Amino acid sequence: MWSSSVKTGSELSISGITAKQLAKDFGTPTFFIDEADFRARALAWNDALKEAFGDKAGTVYYASKAFSCTEVARWIKDLGIGIDVSTGGEMAVALAGGIDPKKIEVHGNNKSIAEIEKAISVGVETIVIDSMYEIDRVATAAAKAGKVQRVLLRLTPGIEAHTHESIATAHEDVKFGFSIASGAAWVAITAVHKQSSLELRGFHAHIGSQIFGFESFEILAERFVTFLAKYRDEFKKELPELDLGGGYGIAYLESDVTVVPRDAMQALANAVKKHCAAFNLEVPTVSIEPGRAIVGPTMFTLYEVGTVKDVTLENGTHRRYISVDGGMSDNIRPSLYGAEYTTILANRTSSAAHTSSRLVGKHCETGDIIIREIDLPEDIVPGDLLAVPATGAYGRSMASNYNHVPRPSVVAVKDGKARVIVRRESIEDLLALDI
Ligand code: LLP
Repeated sequence: MWSSSVKTGSELSISGITAKQLAKDFGTPTFFIDEADFRARALAWNDALKEAFGDKAGTVYYASKAFSCTEVARWIKDLGIGIDVSTGGEMAVALAGGIDPKKIEVHGNNKSIAEIEKAISVGVETIVIDSMYEIDRVATAAAKAGKVQRVLLRLTPGIEAHTHESIATAHEDVKFGFSIASGAAWVAITAVHKQSSLELRGFHAHIGSQIFGFESFEILAERFVTFLAKYRDEFKKELPELDLGGGYGIAYLESDVTVVPRDAMQALANAVKKHCAAFNLEVPTVSIEPGRAIVGPTMFTLYEVGTVKDVTLENGTHRRYISVDGGMSDNIRPSLYGAEYTTILANRTSSAAHTSSRLVGKHCETGDIIIREIDLPEDIVPGDLLAVPATGAYGRSMASNYNHVPRPSVVAVKDGKARVIVRRESIEDLLALDI
């Protein structure tokens, strides 16, 4: 839940800097990212992939949609891992951070021709093809550039991942990829084979996000290896790559039980190897794309309390509303997915009794809730600081300007030093777009 440099218990601190000091220096709301923790998590996935798959380990592509900015792209470059981009914007950030295009994998279910041409011109390693139109578009752009582009086909293996409906991506009724069950995957393969400017390297799937346990990933491994065997039987050659996506769950609450990278990769490797042996197939190179599991736990959001209000409910009980200076514009996940978070009083300790409270933002709607129900010290007053952990993934990256609230800054903390890596938006920034 909290990153490794954070200490809770008395006043919250990260790498020795107290919450009060952070609020004074950087204002609120602010996302604080623990740089050492980010690097350690990224490396842990990389090491786990290598250990489990040996010479068949592909690349860990950090899913930059979870959170990216130029400085984080520089960290990815330093770490020598890959990056998954799903739009031209994410690709621009990766390139601005100096990431070698050979480490970039391009996603998206509706890539524009400009995005495809840009990707090919900078020389990205792999484009993951998502539709029949795209087979032609990528082939045409590659031919125009005089290149043969490596591609994977994104397939839907028909897996019902146990997560929120909006973030499950591999059952049949989705906009992504080509279905194995309906035969669409087969039609796409045949079409790719006809294009001399495309080299089909293998298949990709991303089954969903915030998935706990190994089972869905093991089923994916089985379905994909079975499909690779079918391909071999049909075309008398083997495809060398699989990319099995991201989706590994993290703890948002104390009670969430997560898997460690090593166990997750071992389970995946065991499944891939077992099924390859059964089909007498060479083990393919396996890549993964964790986003949330790398960046999620590395950040917390620091808010300042602005108002505290008790309301009487119909049954005569009271509910305390604690309003902070952010809300659904910096964390849309509770309203969008019913996501649950926790918080702690960060600027002091309190021995006051706890009272059932609702943590809300400053936006003009009732659904602007960060935490629906949580017991918090009853002496919380305006000016107190609250820290919400595990906001690194899909927090700042899904932030909006709703109510013309400027988006928060992101501050990186390492070795007792804090520095802004994404500055806070200003009112001038907001007005700058208006003609
Ligand atoms: N690869 C692909 C192709 C993806 O579409 C995604 C996430 C990932 C990798 C990374 O998944 P992760 O390891 O982060 O779970 N906004 C939602 C999550 C949407 C995920 C979209 N795709 C949320 O806040 O929960």
